[in-house]
Amino acid sequence: MGSAPAASTAIVLENRQVGPGCYRMRLENEYIARCAVPGQFVHVRIPGPPLDPLLRRPFSVCQVEPSHGAFLILYQVVGRGTRMLSTLRPGDKLDVLGPLGRGFEMLRVGGGGNEGSVGNNSRESEGGNGIGSVGSGSGTVKVALVAGGLGIAPLIMLSHAIFRSGVGFVFVVGARSGELLAGLDLIPRASCGNALLSGCPANPEPASPGIVQGAHLPPSGCDMATGYTGPCCEVQVVTEDGSVGRRGLVTDALRDVLAGGDIACAYACGPAGMLREVARLGEAFHVPVQVSLEARMACGLGACLGCAVKAREAATRSGRAGYLRVCADGPVFWAEEVDLDGIG
Ligand SMILES: Cc1cc2nc3c(=O)[nH]c(=O)nc-3n(C[C@H](O)[C@H](O)[C@H](O)COP(=O)(O)OP(=O)(O)OC[C@H]3O[C@@H](n4cnc5c(N)ncnc54)[C@H](O)[C@@H]3O)c2cc1C
Ligand code: FES
Repeated sequence: MGSAPAASTAIVLENRQVGPGCYRMRLENEYIARCAVPGQFVHVRIPGPPLDPLLRRPFSVCQVEPSHGAFLILYQVVGRGTRMLSTLRPGDKLDVLGPLGRGFEMLRVGGGGNEGSVGNNSRESEGGNGIGSVGSGSGTVKVALVAGGLGIAPLIMLSHAIFRSGVGFVFVVGARSGELLAGLDLIPRASCGNALLSGCPANPEPASPGIVQGAHLPPSGCDMATGYTGPCCEVQVVTEDGSVGRRGLVTDALRDVLAGGDIACAYACGPAGMLREVARLGEAFHVPVQVSLEARMACGLGACLGCAVKAREAATRSGRAGYLRVCADGPVFWAEEVDLDGIG
């Protein structure tokens, strides 16, 4: 894996509230903007009185802007550290460690030629549990992304990498209520993006024609009519109270997507219960699933074992027995590698 990254300074460029208790922070740090891959995180020292809070706080890299040397995090205020983070202003400085961890393993499209691979390839190069090469060309292969609440953060960066590689996706985004949906406006939509939201001809039944608070969905969006032939990016919104999109659980929508039969891989981030159900659905529909886990962290570098989760046999087979460290062996794992019943 190479040497651990050193801590560096990130300058707050923007720290904007985008929903109840939810903030989007744009930070300047050239190294992270250039090196982060989808699924990795940064470990942030919250500025306060010396050693308070003592431990750094982990946040997924949500988006990178290499040309501006900037990256985004999307965070929810849940306790002291995130509350302090929400008070920062442009120009304030943060001590950040990263990018850390192992990101999502990517799907390779086609059997040769100039086809892309999506995002991080560290596991492929280490002979991991890869899904290898799928499909024969641009636009024919699809993956599913499943986000519960702020679990959308790492999947946003992933969706951009997938889109650039020519793979289509169905992005199922869920929250308890519409006002808690965050980051929808950051999902790529250069093709028939947000198709279900904007009434794409291929999906005449919009899940929600509405505008979500904090998001700026395209007014008419879809340019399929102009002959676009790239990958299709479809967004399905699900809320538990039905205030936006389909009423129900994000996994209800995922079940329908997987039943459609053309999904090569599913990527999920969200609450533990949601991840367990996504893994179960993946097994039922024979779709490989990668999950991004959250655990309380101390060092963030694989040294203290404070973030360990129990490994399952599949991980043991690939030489990673006993316990896995979310910070260093993850945060992204194949669902069958981890005892998901033991998390959350
Ligand atoms: C790899 C990784 C990526 C993450 N990405 C994001 C992100 O993009 N956006 C975001 O809002 N949050 C993210 N989190 C969770 C985030 O780190 C915690 O919400 C944050 O550390 C809480 O700090 P606090 O001081 O405000 O809360 P604390 O006062 O420390 O705790 C408040 C509550 O949050 C829970 N909590 C604290 N830390 C964690 C944690 N690491 N995982 C799960 N629950 C926790 C506690 O159990 C407690 O109930 C991520 C966590 C991990 C491990
Ligand atoms: S937080 Fe120390 S090993 Fe993961």
